[in-house]
Amino acid sequence: MDLSTTYMGISLKNPIIVGSSGLTSSVEKVKTLEACGAGAVVLKSIFEEEIMYEYADFMQTAKEQYGAPQSFDYDGQRNPIEYYDYIIREENLKNYILLIEKCKQTVSIPVMASINCFFHSVEWLSYATHLESAGADALELNMFFPPTDFKHSREAKEALYFEIAEKVTQAVSIPVALKISPYFTDLGPMIQRMSNTKIKGMVLFNRFFSPDFDIHTLKVKSSFVFSTPSDLAMSLRWIAVMAEKVTCDLAASTGVHDGAAVIKHILAGADAVQVVSSLYKNGVEYLKEMLSVLEQWMGDKKFGCLSDFKGKMSQDNSTDPAIYERAQFMRYFGGKKNVIL
Ligand SMILES: Cc1cc2nc3c(=O)[nH]c(=O)nc-3n(C[C@H](O)[C@H](O)[C@H](O)COP(=O)(O)O)c2cc1C
Repeated sequence: MDLSTTYMGISLKNPIIVGSSGLTSSVEKVKTLEACGAGAVVLKSIFEEEIMYEYADFMQTAKEQYGAPQSFDYDGQRNPIEYYDYIIREENLKNYILLIEKCKQTVSIPVMASINCFFHSVEWLSYATHLESAGADALELNMFFPPTDFKHSREAKEALYFEIAEKVTQAVSIPVALKISPYFTDLGPMIQRMSNTKIKGMVLFNRFFSPDFDIHTLKVKSSFVFSTPSDLAMSLRWIAVMAEKVTCDLAASTGVHDGAAVIKHILAGADAVQVVSSLYKNGVEYLKEMLSVLEQWMGDKKFGCLSDFKGKMSQDNSTDPAIYERAQFMRYFGGKKNVIL
């Protein structure tokens, strides 16, 4: 059975990519993922926000020891505040570059790097060029400019996605993917417009930290970190709807918990499928099980390779395309059997 696929012009031995997360944060982990059959990995993102937290921690300690920030300044020398900001950024970048270099020396599967920066940050470009030089096979831009920002207009925020994508794709020659959220006013046309830039792939969709309330302590806590199999519905619908309407490759992400979910996404038209939560829950060895389900199913259905069934169930190839646009549970409580609810 030929499980190989091409994603963003890169050959993968199979369509399962281990998504950006703690599962891909060290060379040892990446090595194990390769041994378990991963088609590729996306390394844990380099987060500008994390760097800023580290900087804030440093500043707090410095303040406690030396007083207010202005008292750190001294004549004729570099401003220590800027200096430490620089050092912390450089240190994080250096470690990330080292991770890419070591992974590239150790594994033969494609290693993609992932960047998450602030809204107006100039670091997108700087990180992108450094990570390309370190040997990353591709870049994933983990982009999320929160819809909770009331200061900037929707147009201004949307324009930023295009601006950053254009600048990064101009600056590097490796393929670039956008990993986005589903939180756009006009999601379908937005995905289509993004695909028409010079990016080579899109990841539909990222999953985010969500706050929950502890009613005993009255504190905010994190809600479930991991997805559940029912979370597949959102990405499956949108991969199926967009598969034939985009000009770049698509990787599915969120709610892929077993081999059947991988099959569904390929049927919907995905070029690759990313997995995270399921491997946290079941262990990384579970990759083997997912691949074996895919292979067995292909055998049963007499499909010799992925292109034999890729996109077979996309909206554009469906005899009932309206079903992908259905929103209301019209007959859910109607008691009729064997109807689409
Ligand atoms: C613990 C954890 C850490 C994650 N870290 C990152 C990250 O660094 N960068 C990123 O783009 N996505 C990150 N994600 C999101 C995943 O890559 C993925 O898009 C999301 O979990 C949905 O896939 P899943 O349903 O298979 O978990 C993380 C997810 C989890 C659960």
